[in-house]
Amino acid sequence: MTDTEKFRFCVAPMLDWTDRHCRYFMRLMTKRARLYTEMVTAPAILFGNRDLLLKFDETEHPVACQLGGSDPEDLAKAAAIASQYGYDEINLNCGCPSERVQKGSFGACLMLEPKLRQRGNLVQRAV
Ligand SMILES: Cc1cc2nc3c(=O)[nH]c(=O)nc-3n(C[C@H](O)[C@H](O)[C@H](O)COP(=O)(O)O)c2cc1C
Repeated sequence: MTDTEKFRFCVAPMLDWTDRHCRYFMRLMTKRARLYTEMVTAPAILFGNRDLLLKFDETEHPVACQLGGSDPEDLAKAAAIASQYGYDEINLNCGCPSERVQKGSFGACLMLEPKLRQRGNLVQRAV
């Protein structure tokens, strides 16, 4: 079975919703959906309580950690840290259009920064 067939159904990353408790509950409903964390910002991982932000229950697999940020070096460091927690995927938020997220220069507004996007390969190399 290909990845696309396995994860045809995903539960989108949702700030203030898809925390580990919500994901645990969702996992009781299906084993086949890919689940996403809420967006976790790179500075929160670098300077905050990592276990609180990144720990999850084994039953949540397959689960992706979504990162938010606009500094490629910080994002690369945060991705390396997050991947040590055993996520199946590290995802960079380049799609969230909310005003709150764009105020932090994250999300969809990254699509307006081609040079920054090119440096996204730093994140890929870090995991
Ligand atoms: C409450 C809420 C929080 C969200 N938080 C995020 C987020 O953290 N990261 C992200 O990429 N998108 C976020 N989104 C956008 C969703 O992931 C999704 O892309 C959006 O709801 C569009 O999906 P739909 O077309 O199926 O409605 C959020 C959406 C909602 C409603």
